[in-house]
Amino acid sequence: MSLFWSLFHNSEKSRYIKMFKLSAVLLSSVLFAVAAPAPTEKLVTCAGGRTTAHATCCKWFVVLDDLQENLFDGGECGEETHESLRLTFHDAIGFSPKLFREGKFGGGGADGSIMAHLDVEGTFPANNGIDEIVETQRPFAIKHGVSFGDFIQFAGAVGLSNCAGAPRLEFLAGRSNFSQPSPPSLVPEPSDSVDSMIARLADAGFTANELVDLLASHSVAAQDHVDPTIPGTPFDSTPSAFDSNFFVETLLAGNLVPGNGTNVGQAESPIAGEFRLQSDALLARDPRTACEWQSFIIDETFMQTKFRAVMSKLAVVGHNRNLLTDCSDVIPIPSHPLSKGATLPAGKVMSDLEASCQATPLPTLSADPGPTTSVPPVPPS
Ligand code: HEM
Ligand SMILES: *[C@@H]1O[C@H](CO)[C@@H](O)[C@H](O)[C@H]1NC(C)=O
Ligand SMILES: *[C@@H]1O[C@H](CO)[C@@H](O)[C@H](O)[C@H]1NC(C)=O
Repeated sequence: MSLFWSLFHNSEKSRYIKMFKLSAVLLSSVLFAVAAPAPTEKLVTCAGGRTTAHATCCKWFVVLDDLQENLFDGGECGEETHESLRLTFHDAIGFSPKLFREGKFGGGGADGSIMAHLDVEGTFPANNGIDEIVETQRPFAIKHGVSFGDFIQFAGAVGLSNCAGAPRLEFLAGRSNFSQPSPPSLVPEPSDSVDSMIARLADAGFTANELVDLLASHSVAAQDHVDPTIPGTPFDSTPSAFDSNFFVETLLAGNLVPGNGTNVGQAESPIAGEFRLQSDALLARDPRTACEWQSFIIDETFMQTKFRAVMSKLAVVGHNRNLLTDCSDVIPIPSHPLSKGATLPAGKVMSDLEASCQATPLPTLSADPGPTTSVPPVPPS
């Protein structure tokens, strides 16, 4: 950097800085468009000294401190973070233009309905176990007087910021607190076919590639209810890091069962203590999704960028983003970098990978040192 800059005179430096700033503004307005604050806008200083682009965002700093301390155990990427991220999806995906076209109510998307109407939505099979995090989060939302829809997306973004390697997600505030219960059968299940998952996501406005982008979330995830005898069994060997190990490990040949038999929606795992959803196993190998899947093994930065973009979209399903206020600067800048690039678990070799996309061939990965990996469960908090 300093070598690069020393090549220029001061006036040239400031010219380059200006050009850089301008292109950064242009680029970000193309990528994350519309709700981004205008570059000239003045920052507001909130009580406590932190700054944000909009005065109405100040209250979110108070919510942030409360969540980090009292929901996320002081800023951990643990069970509550994982469940909070899952909840962003289960609320938002309750939206079906297809049902509206048929003259029925198609749901309000990211409207907080899963929290307001847990009595209805909690009975949907795909929402098995979601009641725990909804009941845990609800008193926080009520205490701070923010809408359930805003709160769910905020908690997901704050929680993710605690995970190593995570992107800093966008957060827009201003969703109405009014909602009606989502219709049933809109949340995908792990026993679904690829056809059905792609069709459901397409109805809600997401491409097959974007479904894969969303599933980077399973990099910081574990199951409790598909096999209830082994709660906390993670989907990859690093459930507190937002890394591409999930995409590598789902491609390994599966040959063992971590719990008591194979359950509906479960596929065989490659490593002891790890859980594989049938949905993830199929999407990793389907010609419509395998190339995007493999691309994240080649480039983890690409995975972070794509996840940020698709989460910006997920968080406003059913809303007009121009009517919301950009409070993204309240979300902490993730501070834990990844310690290494993608690797194979100890004891595995490249030929254990069932890669199926020629267009994004896998790089040669080295295996972690040491004895064959067994993954410990995510502790309940
Ligand atoms: C085809 C789509 C999807 C299917 C079939 C699916 C299925 C599942 C299942 C069955 C579990 C285990 C739940 C349990 O037993 O406790 C799970 C966990 C999880 N899912 Fe998904 N999921 C999908 C998409 C997503 C998306 C889009 C997100 C977020 C953007 C997400 C985030 C999570 C997280 C973070 C967990 C871990 C929860 C925890 O550790 O407590 N999933 N998913
Ligand atoms: C949102 O609605 C719920 C009832 O569904 C209520 O308990 C809560 O206090 C409301 N929050 C706000 C900010 O109005
Ligand atoms: C394991 O599965 C068998 C057969 O389904 C069942 O009889 C047994 O009770 C299960 N054990 C546990 C610990 O859940």
